[in-house]
Order: sequence, then C-alpha cells, then structure tokens
Amino acid sequence: MNEKEIVLSGIRATGNLHLGNYYGALSKFVKMQNDYDCMYFIADLHALTTTPDPEALHVNVRNILAEYLAAGVDPDKATIFVQSDVPEISEMYLLLNMHVGIGELMRTASFKDKARKQLGIKDDGQDIEKQIIGTDSNKRVNAGLLTYPTLMAVDILIQKAHKVPVGKDQEQHLELTRRFARRFNSFYGVDLFPEPVNFDFGGKPVKVPGLDGSGKMGKSEGNCIYLVDEEKVLRKKVMRAVTDEGPKEPNSPISEPVANLLTLMELTSAPETVQQFRDAYADCSIRYGDLKKQLAEDILKVTLPIRERYLDIVNDDAYIARVVKQGAERARERAAKTLAEVREIMGIRKFY
Ligand code: ADP
Ligand code: TRP
Repeated sequence: MNEKEIVLSGIRATGNLHLGNYYGALSKFVKMQNDYDCMYFIADLHALTTTPDPEALHVNVRNILAEYLAAGVDPDKATIFVQSDVPEISEMYLLLNMHVGIGELMRTASFKDKARKQLGIKDDGQDIEKQIIGTDSNKRVNAGLLTYPTLMAVDILIQKAHKVPVGKDQEQHLELTRRFARRFNSFYGVDLFPEPVNFDFGGKPVKVPGLDGSGKMGKSEGNCIYLVDEEKVLRKKVMRAVTDEGPKEPNSPISEPVANLLTLMELTSAPETVQQFRDAYADCSIRYGDLKKQLAEDILKVTLPIRERYLDIVNDDAYIARVVKQGAERARERAAKTLAEVREIMGIRKFY
C-alpha cells in the first residue's frame, strides 16, 4: 500500500481566526484530513516575533486549538499540536540557519513589512537595510523576525511534508522553503527533504478581502469577521461594509468595494445567489442593503455552528490537553527522526 502524502500547516497564535484564515487555510485543513496524513499546529514561537505577550499568547493558543476543533479538524484523523511542544524544531532551526543567507531573508516581503511596522516607518521607497542597521537598541527589528522563514521552513521540512495548505500571502515563504530544501540536499549530496507545494484543490490560492473596501482581511487591518463573532456583531459588521454610490449605467465595471463583497459571497453563498446580484449590478437594479443582508445570512450559516462548538470546547481543559498531548507525541516522533538524520548528515556526532 502506498503511504499517504504528508500535509502540514500552521497558524500563528496572534488572536481569533477570521474568514480569511478559514477560507485561506482552515477549511482546507478539514477537507484534506480524510485523504492525507495531516499535521496541523499552532505556531506559538512564530507569534513571538511580533506579539511577545505571555498571557495573551497562552490564551491565543488555546483559542485557536478550540477553533481548529470546532471547525471540524478531527484529532483522530489529523495530528494537532503546538509548535513549542516539539523542541526538535528549535534545534533544527539553529542548524538550518547555517545555510540561509541574511540577504535573502531581508528581501522577503513580509520581513520588510513587519520590520517597517516595528520601526514605525512608512514604505517610502528608502532602503530598509540601512534603516535597520542604523537603529539603536530601543527601536529595533528583532532577529527572530528576520529568521521567521527559516523557522517556517523547519516546521515543514522536519515533518518531510509534501503539501502545505496556506493562503496566497504565504507563497513566498513556501518558495524559500523549497529553496532551502534543495540547497541542503545538494550541499550534502543527499535526498532528505521533499520540496513542498501549496495546496488549493485545483483552484487559485484565495485572498479573502476585508469589509473596508480594499485589501485583504487581516488581524492587523481591523477589518475582520471572526469565526466566533456573535450573530448581532457579525450582522452589524456586514451591514457597515464599504460599498459605492451604485452603478450609474448598465454594465459598468464593478468597483473594488463591491467586488470584494461579491468575492465574499462567492465563498459563502450559492452560485445562483451571486449571479443574481451580479445581474442586478449590471442592470442597475442592485440594492446594497439586500446584498449585505443575504451575505450576512450566508456567512452566519458557516460561522454559527463553529461558534457553538467552540464555546463547548474552549473551556474543556481536559479535552484540549488530551488532544495536544497525543499530537505532540506524534509530531515529536517524526521530528526526532529527521533531526537525527540532519545531525548525522551535518557531522554532529557523539563520542559517547
Ligand atoms: P493574519 O494575516 O490575519 O495575521 P495569519 O498571517 O496568521 O493571519 O494567517 C494564517 C493563515 O491564514 C495563512 O495560511 C494565511 O495565508 C491565511 N490567511 C490570512 N488572511 C487571509 C486572507 N485574507 N485571505 C486568504 N488567506 C488568508
Ligand atoms: N507563516 C504562517 C502564517 O503567517 C504560519 C506558519 C508557520 C506556517 N509555520 C508554518 C504555515 C508552516 C504553514 C506551514 O500564516
């Protein structure tokens, strides 16, 4: 019998999950668990690169675990674990860093973005490298942020994963992971790591837009619909979403804010419903109030059952502990095997 391909993905423990996380990642986690050997984790070490708050971190890890479970990730089918429960990851992160260039890390889009945020500067086309080197120790970019892609590559490579279901914004990190895998294999003349690819069921990786008219839905953008939003809150958010003044002539091009709402609708509503509103836009009969009501209704059909299960799970300490303990054991077993191979290949051998 063929062994199943290994799937691995994680989400940073930085807050509750929103519709972007759900369609970009979590819904795929659930779909894949029947056909693959799946491993899903909470990236608590990665969260430290931007939000080092001890109390919040622990709460966030628990919330996301409960959200994974509530959304349908099944601990009997998939391995669910917490990144820091696998110390082998931290050791291999040190080892892999020896084969990673500072330059390639500094050129990563997410690094530049987050480094600018940590320094409190805008992207004015200036060389970020000079600004970083020039900063004093009060206003600094932490080194963990720079080596974020190494840690992510290790999460993936230490489990020898083949498929990594993530949203479009993670493509560059995956590209680096493939590069590091190739580099390690060829430097040592081994065939240790597979080159992982994104996974999206034949479609394009999704980018879920926010409700504020432009850009993506994201925690730091403050434009999110959370999976655990109360019904009233969720309806209010959707009804307040940015639109435009309405089409002035038949068949006008659709403005970005309205296109965003239709994209959300494509993810949550029946295809006929979306078509109906597209047609109404084309013949200028569209009423945004109706569109938003329908959209809120269809989003709630997805999120309310998740919210209910979440509320049951999130305070069940014993259940959560059981799930992550079992997950950590499975994840560590594989990680320890890979780490032993890496140490041997790199010449780290014992005398006793
Ligand atoms: P955030 O951007 O809100 O901080 P994360 O960076 O923690 O979210 O993302 C976790 C996962 O969710 C990743 O796989 C990411 O690609 C996916 N994701 C986040 N936001 C979106 C979005 N708006 N559209 C599609 N996928 C998303
Ligand atoms: N960088 C990912 C994000 O921000 C989270 C992550 C960390 C991850 N390690 C990973 C995703 C390994 C997939 C595989 O969303």
